[in-house]
Amino acid sequence: MNQTDGKRLAAEAALKYVEEDTIIGVGTGSTVDKFIDALAEMRMKLRGAVSSSEASTQRLRKHGIDVVDLNSAGRLDLYVDGADESNRFLQLIKGGGGALTREKIVASASERFICIADESKLVDVLGEFPLPIEVIPMARSTVARELVRIGGRPELRQNFTTDNGNIILDVHGLSITEPLKLEQEINNIPGVVTNGIFALRPADLLLLGSSSGVRKVE
Ligand code: A5P
Repeated sequence: MNQTDGKRLAAEAALKYVEEDTIIGVGTGSTVDKFIDALAEMRMKLRGAVSSSEASTQRLRKHGIDVVDLNSAGRLDLYVDGADESNRFLQLIKGGGGALTREKIVASASERFICIADESKLVDVLGEFPLPIEVIPMARSTVARELVRIGGRPELRQNFTTDNGNIILDVHGLSITEPLKLEQEINNIPGVVTNGIFALRPADLLLLGSSSGVRKVE
């Protein structure tokens, strides 16, 4: 089984956690695209979705699913999103698609965060995937210097601007053995909008698609 099939299986497995007549939070990425498509195919009656990116908003609307502003939606029961890496404690690296800030906001506004991924995303230690950090453009160099100080090799993501008008630094070479501590440390660097470690608000359930079916980690 290839990664695409694993993503599809995980996305379909998340459908059973969606309840009719609710507003759900929807993440970003190729796995979530499969979730949105499957959701539309199921024709479930939703009150709408809070989206974490312009890309997901377009896809939801294309399927006729209402996109609701988080400020009027209130607290959400469920958020479904992918990840670039997860450890067994459901602490994640996210932001490969650059939508990490809105993803973190919607995750924090949700009672339950279900992460959907193919099995290759489960790792022992986070950090092989370069850690995405959204940064205010004028702080690019000062933030990069701080990231070098903590042992990383930041690289500017080329030809990319986030939905919020900022840049992304992808940080290579970090072995993230203390995700909670590093998430807070990077958050404290002036000019950092968000970093892609989701440890303060990890996932609650990880659905991993593989050739032997869907494995639950919780
Ligand atoms: C988007 O910014 C990311 O956080 C995605 O959730 C993550 O990159 C997973 O993407 P795929 O589902 O495309 O692997």
